[in-house]
Order: sequence, then C-alpha cells, then structure tokens
Amino acid sequence: MDSTWGCARFFHLLLPLCLILMINGVEFCYGGITSTYLRDKNLSLDMPLHSDVFSLPAGYNAPQQVHITQGDREGKGVIISWVTPDELGSSTVLYWAEDSKVKNIANSTVVTYKYYDYNSGYIHHCTIENLEYDTKYIYEIGDGSNARRFWFITPPKVGPDVPYTFGLIGDLGQTFDSNKTLTHYELNPAKGQTMLFVGDLSYADCYPNHDNTRWDTWGRFIERNAAYQPWIWTAGNHEIDFVPEIGEYEPFKPYKHRYFVPYRAANSTSPLWYSVKRASAYIIVMSSYSAYGKYTPQYKWLTNELPKVNRSETPWLIVLMHAPMYNSYAHHYMEGETMRVMYESWFVEYKVDVVFSGHVHAYERSERISNIRYNVVNGECTPMSDQSAPVYITIGDGGNQEGLVTEMTEPQPSYSAYREASFGHGTFEIKNKTHAYFSWHRNQDDYAVEADSLWFHNRYWKSSEQLAVASYR
Ligand SMILES: [Fe+2]
Repeated sequence: MDSTWGCARFFHLLLPLCLILMINGVEFCYGGITSTYLRDKNLSLDMPLHSDVFSLPAGYNAPQQVHITQGDREGKGVIISWVTPDELGSSTVLYWAEDSKVKNIANSTVVTYKYYDYNSGYIHHCTIENLEYDTKYIYEIGDGSNARRFWFITPPKVGPDVPYTFGLIGDLGQTFDSNKTLTHYELNPAKGQTMLFVGDLSYADCYPNHDNTRWDTWGRFIERNAAYQPWIWTAGNHEIDFVPEIGEYEPFKPYKHRYFVPYRAANSTSPLWYSVKRASAYIIVMSSYSAYGKYTPQYKWLTNELPKVNRSETPWLIVLMHAPMYNSYAHHYMEGETMRVMYESWFVEYKVDVVFSGHVHAYERSERISNIRYNVVNGECTPMSDQSAPVYITIGDGGNQEGLVTEMTEPQPSYSAYREASFGHGTFEIKNKTHAYFSWHRNQDDYAVEADSLWFHNRYWKSSEQLAVASYR
C-alpha cells in the first residue's frame, strides 16, 4: 500500500469529532504513529582509540581507510580512495575482473591537508572508468608486504526494470551504537548493494580543535563496508569544520579532501551537490549548508538537473539532503524550512519519489504531502495530502555521540506518518519500475528489527493493478 492519511485509518472512530470541527470551519486531521518503543537515553560514547574497529592494517605505511564511491555518471566507474599514513607509497591500483586474467593499472591523485595542528596522511583517489556492468572486480593497493586486496561489484546497466537495493544510514559517528548500526546493515538479508549516506560522518568536530585523528579512525571504522560497496556521500553540518578562532576558514576542508565524488560528470561545479544514475535510480545529492537561494550555483545546477531526469530510463527519483524539510521532532525543528520554500514545488512538479535526510537523530516518515500553495496573502500554509509529492524520510539515527532526539512536537502533525526515537538503518529495495520496498530497522539491543516499512508505487510507471483500477473507473 502506498502512503495514506493516518486519519483515514481511524476515521470511523473519530467521525463525530471531525464533523463538529468541519461544521465550525476547522480543517483538522490526525497524525500517524508515534512508536511506543523506548530506547535508553544515555549517551553512547565514542569507541576508544584502541578498539578493534579502528585497528591499523599490518605493515609499514599500509593503505588504510579504504572506501569507494561511484566514479562516473552511470555506474561504469568507481573512485577508490585510501590513506597512506607515513609516506606517499604506491599510488596505483591494480584491478581485474574476477573471471579475467588481464590485470589493469590505474593511477591516483594524491592530496594532503593541514588542519590546525594536524597533518593528514597521503590521501589517494583513483578514478577508474569504463568498467563492465554487473561484474565483480578485484582491486589491490599498496606495495610489497603491505599490499591489500578488496573487491566490488559494478551495478547493472542503467534501465527501467533493474532491481537494485540501496542502504541508508545518516549521522553515523563512531560510538558503540554506530558500530551496531553498521553491523546490522551488514547482516541485513536485504543485502544493500550501495549505501546512500545522508551526511554527518565522523563527528570529529566534537573534539577539541576538531581533532582530525577522529576522521582517520572513522575511515578505518567504515572500511569494512565502504571498501566493498560504494557509499554515495552527502555533506552535513558536521562536515563544515569552519573554525576561524583556530585559523580554519575553509568550509568542508577535511570532507572535501577525503571524500571525492563524481560531481563534474553531473555538470556540477561543487562536490557538495551532484547526481548519479545507478541501476533504475536517479540520485540527486543536495547541500543544506551551501547557498541555495535563487541565482546561486546550486540553484542554477538544480534548475537544469531536474528536467534532465528521464523516468523512462530511471523510474526512481531519489533526493538526498542533510536537513529534513519535514520534521516533527523538537530538535532542529524547521531548520529545513528555507530549503523547503525554495524547492518543494519542484519536487512535486517532478514527482520525486522520496527525499532522504538525516540531521535529526531519530527516525521519521512522512505522508505524501505538500505545502506549496502559500503566496503571502492567501493564508494557505498547511501541508495537504498530495500524491505528486515525495515521501520524506528522516534517517539521522546512525548512532553518534550526541545521542537520540526524543522530544517531539505534540500532537503528532498530520504530515508525520511514523516516528520513533531509536537508532537504526534503512533499505530501499527497487523491485522493478513500478514497485519499491522501503524498510527501517531499529537497533534493538543486539538485533535489528524492522519497525516501519512502506511499499512505493511509482507515479510515472503505473503497476498493472493500478492500470486495471484506472480502466475499470
Ligand atoms: Fe546534522
């Protein structure tokens, strides 16, 4: 079932009250479900530096913090990134298709940066293009005794009926809860093939002078997954790292040095906003913390971007941004409002399927609603049911050191379909061009429990059942 109003489910119980309110000219609707499941509110600490998840690979100057992301427009490319801590070392990648004896070599770009009293290691970024679709590749980095070997699988060729499963994590950090979230994702039988990460990575900025050694530990923490499947990056507020008091004036400096993305292939002028096509999905990444008003570079880029999406080729249109446009928690309430004012009407016009956000350390799913009629004088400023609108899903519940957000606006607004203050992760399973299944998995102690889910019916491609209903009418 697609999203429906929570009030409809209880309408038979609430009919008398609704009638009274309607007679009095009050438009009234009830929100959805506020989960009764309660998590421990105690803050989870960052895992200590000697934790096994941060352990160094064996060998002098061994490549560490290995991670990959998509490296081109359509999924035939990959960017492989890693850090050598002591000296430059080898900067090449040896790679080959698993069933091939032909080995290829690619060279990388190497960058370094200083941040206050921290000097980064050598950060290697190797873009490999023109790979075969749907193929397992082995890759090897490092040299001699410290060489390390990993693998990845390229996606199927872009097309409308290509099943593909995305994972979803936001605001991960590096606490014991973060480790549970990542472990549960890895054990999820849905088998996410690519991670959509909605911002706030390491939380290194929570340390004095934004201790960048915590960027390094975070890179080692996620390597166990991010070296084997692409993580599609979104920048959050914890990536800004703007601290003039200690001489750090360049926003996003550590993030932009460490996490390369294929923004030029998307005709973007900044790695903070870009898009990729992958399997049957078109993924647009936006930046909540860069200028997005009219005439700004991000605005101009998105103006050209949305009309380019060909739903015959990629039926599923997904937007990632850090700060949610719809949020009913007390914390960060309305922080996404200016972005909503700018872009919500576009998302409705182009029938974006789903907008995934983080920032709020909890889970929430909206109804299909829009609030785009307001024009200053008409007073129409209430979210209304709108089947052309996206579903907004907040998944900033990765498990970082700032803890959960538990305080909610009451009563639950009508736009909120389900909300729960727990840590967890999500999966978006595209079955074909008409159906996709989203599920959210809370961290319930040592287990992941599917606590919320939703079948998506594509609004561009009607399913055979929907067509049958339409012709009957
Ligand atoms: Fe955030």
